[in-house]
Formats: sequence, structure tokens, C-alpha cells
Amino acid sequence: MSHSDKDSVRIFDTTLRDGEQSPGASMTIEEKIRIAELLEAMRVDIIEAGFAIASNGDFECVQKIAQQIKQSTVCSLARAALPDIDRAAEALKQAARPRIHTFIATSPLHMKVKLQMEPKAVIEAIHASVSHARNFVDDVEWSAEDATRTEMDFLCQAVETAIKAGATTINLPDTVGYTTPREYREMFQSVINRVPGAAKAIFSTHCHNDLGLAVANSLAGVEGGARQIECTINGIGERAGNAAMEEVVMALRTRADAMPYHTNIETTSIMKASKLVSTVTGFNVQNNKAIVGANAFAHESGIHQDGILKNAETYEIMTPESVGVTKTTLVMGKLSGRAAFADKLKDLGYELGDNAFQDCFRRFKELADRKKNIYDEDIIALVDDEVATAENRLRLVALNTHSSTDGTAVADLTMSIDGEPKKSVVYGAGPVDAVFNAVKDVMDWHPRLVIFQVHAITQGTDAQAECTVRLEEDGRTVNGQGADEDTITAAARAYIAAMNKLMIKREKRAIAATG
Ligand code: KIV
Ligand code: ZN
Repeated sequence: MSHSDKDSVRIFDTTLRDGEQSPGASMTIEEKIRIAELLEAMRVDIIEAGFAIASNGDFECVQKIAQQIKQSTVCSLARAALPDIDRAAEALKQAARPRIHTFIATSPLHMKVKLQMEPKAVIEAIHASVSHARNFVDDVEWSAEDATRTEMDFLCQAVETAIKAGATTINLPDTVGYTTPREYREMFQSVINRVPGAAKAIFSTHCHNDLGLAVANSLAGVEGGARQIECTINGIGERAGNAAMEEVVMALRTRADAMPYHTNIETTSIMKASKLVSTVTGFNVQNNKAIVGANAFAHESGIHQDGILKNAETYEIMTPESVGVTKTTLVMGKLSGRAAFADKLKDLGYELGDNAFQDCFRRFKELADRKKNIYDEDIIALVDDEVATAENRLRLVALNTHSSTDGTAVADLTMSIDGEPKKSVVYGAGPVDAVFNAVKDVMDWHPRLVIFQVHAITQGTDAQAECTVRLEEDGRTVNGQGADEDTITAAARAYIAAMNKLMIKREKRAIAATG
């Protein structure tokens, strides 16, 4: 290993697999591809695209990402079962850099209760699964699920078996978020010291955040010898989530003096990735969240503001620009033309085709007619909304609402279904309720509303509203987003976007059921 290899920490992003295991965080294939493209642009080393055998949707998603992504390694999860591994291999066939990630639980509790397997059978399954995966790809990761509650002797035996069978990465997850930094560091040190052939593999952390220690534990794992961190954007994931990528990456970068390791991540894309994942999943980022929260670089008290004006380093340990936070600037107005708009999109990192550009420019002009000051955030919301809904079969055509303090509200809504206009005039408890009722009436379909949330994109009473709607039907959950200066219109767009996704899922399931 060269010196730089020795100190280099690979970033394995599992937003699309473990992140999607957050209750309610389901993403469409198109959304996952957008996230994967951004992760690749950020120079993420490995993208875990899904769990190919879990469903046809997961398979298709791993396959599409594998076809599309060329620079990052693309990985599929698989249990220690041959059909799982075959399915992962099939989905990864066209990947430029494929990885199969196979796992089995090794803790006494999991082996006895969940797997109902004797330790000897688990060792055999490790050997069989890793060897089978190596028949398809050179890059095989093996994980000891619940490693942090596994007996050390057995963990070493399991790791040795996996390495002998050809695993090139060994992941020791803190599956239940139970460990502490010292314990996790020592676990890596012991396993690496004791297992013959350990130097042939890269060791990896995978930490859940049940005690709020996922990032600290991941960094401690690196101190113990791990050179891969598994993490997610915004820390989303099963239960309390996974280690947040933005936090581990910025901790390593900012405190390189204390932790002399580096990652390849292009940190200036962090904010963009955070926003994309939060928009797509409907999971808002808390204001005081490290690195990507709205307040992460805000200075409220007079003393702090005074210090910052004199020298930013008084209260800022990293610059907002280093994570892609730009100062909110007044960017454009209604006199701005096509060329200025195109320049702005380029600055913001968008590359749109001709049609998408024309649609966005038209919406920008409409917005500029109504809103005096247009900020970067307005343009980002508008373009994201347009790109996400461009192919939708359900679209909002026109909306009029009326509400009064006596509690009555009515929505007069026209939407199109596959290009055909449909209209409904319906009452509700308030204007949002009336709009949602109108969409349900047009579609003659009543899925359960799980979440409706609104937030203002910028400041001021003319700020655009960004709405998220989560709908559920028969265990299928979808999120829809919509942005508009009119909050009720934004709500209608979000509801229709969610209905569109649910309709596609419903149709796919019907096709699968009929064979
Ligand atoms: O938390 C965990 O143990 C996992 C494994 C499947 C890697 O997600
Ligand atoms: Zn996990």
C-alpha cells in the first residue's frame, strides 16, 4: 500500500439502500438515478444502489444505476443465499465497476433467534456465499450483521472465512447503534491484529445512530484501522438512521490535524445532495443539523456577528462555500432574458435539454411577473419541480380556490390525465382540503394522506412555498413535492405528483400480478 492509499478512506454511500429503509422514505427509480448521478459527481467511491432480490423495482433500480454510473463502484446487497447473489450479479451485469455485498448475522442472539442456525452453519454459509459471489465479480464485500454484539473469537473466525473465500472488503456493522467509540475502535484493532490475511482486505464501518454516536463511532473505526465508511446523505436510514456522510467527510477534512485521513468527496456538492435527498424523501433537515441545517452557518448573537465580521474564523471552523452553501443573493428579475437564465442554471449545476429549458424559462418568467426578488433558491425549487414532474401523466392545468372565515372552502380544479383534461368543483374544510378532495374526485381514488408539510423556500411573504405530500395505499408509500408562490397551488402540485407515483406503482403491481 502506498502512503496515500494507507490514509485514504473510501466513502460507501447507502442512501439508496439503507437510507430507503427509513420508514416512509420510498423513492422512485428516476429519483434514485438522479441521486446516484449526483453521488457520482461528488466522487463517492461506492454507491449501494439497492437490494436486487427484494423486489422487481429494486432489481430494475440497481440495473439502471449499474448501466448509468461509470466512475463510482455500484453495489447490490444480497443475503448469504445463492439466489440473492445470482440476482445481485444479474442486476450488476452491465456495471463498469460492480460489487456484490453479501451479509449474514454473527451475534449469538441473531443466529439463534433470527437465523435459527448453529454457528458452524453460519461459517459454512459465509464460505459458500462469498465464494459464489466471487464467481461473478472480483469485488466482494462481506458484512457481519450485528458485529458489535458478536463474540470476538467467533467474529475473527467469520472474518477469516470470508477473506479466505475471496472477500475484498470486510464490513463490521453496528447494526443496532449500540457500540461506543472506544469499543468500536478496539474491535477493529483486535480483528485486524488477530485475523490471518486481514491485510488483504479493506475494513469498513457501518454505524446506526440509535444513541446519536454513528458519526463518532465511524471515525473511531477509522482510527482502529477501517478504511471505508458506510454512510447516507442527511444520515437517513433504518430507525434513527446511519452515519451522516456530510458529517464524517467534513470532520475528516476539518480536523485533518487530529485525524490524518482523506476522502475523495467533492464537498462543495454536499448541500445540493442534502437538498435533493430531503426533497425526494420528504424528510426535512432539522435547522440545527450539523453541516447542512439551515442554521449551520447562521450567527444570531451580536457578539458572534461582530466576531464574524472581523474575521470569520472567530466562530466558523469551515466555510459555508466549502459545503456548497452560497450566500443568498438576489439573482434575477423579470427583465432577465434567456441567456442570463441559462448562465444561472449553469452556475447552479443544471444541464437541461431544450424542452426542459423552455419549460423552466416559461415558469421563471411567470414567477418573475409575480415575485419581485428571485433568489438562487427560487430557481433551484422551480427547476427541481419541473424536472421531477416533466414526464408525469397527471398534471395540474388550472386551479381556483375560495375560502372564507365561516369555514367553507371550495376548489375548482382542472387537471389532465394522459393529456385529457378533467374538472371537478368540490368543497372542503379549508382550501387545501378542498383541493385534495377535488383531485380525489377527478381520479375517483382515495389513498391515505400520511404527511402534508409546507415550508417557505426564502424569506418574505412572497416567498415560494415548497409542499410535500406523502400518500399510502396497501403498504405502498410515495412522496410528492410541489413548489409555487401560491401555497395552495404548491399543495395541489405536490398532491398530484404523489398520486402520479402511486398510480405508476399500482400499475406496475397489477402487471406483475398478471404475470
Ligand atoms: O445495519 C446493518 O447491519 C446493515 C447490513 C445489511 C450491512 O445494513
Ligand atoms: Zn444498516
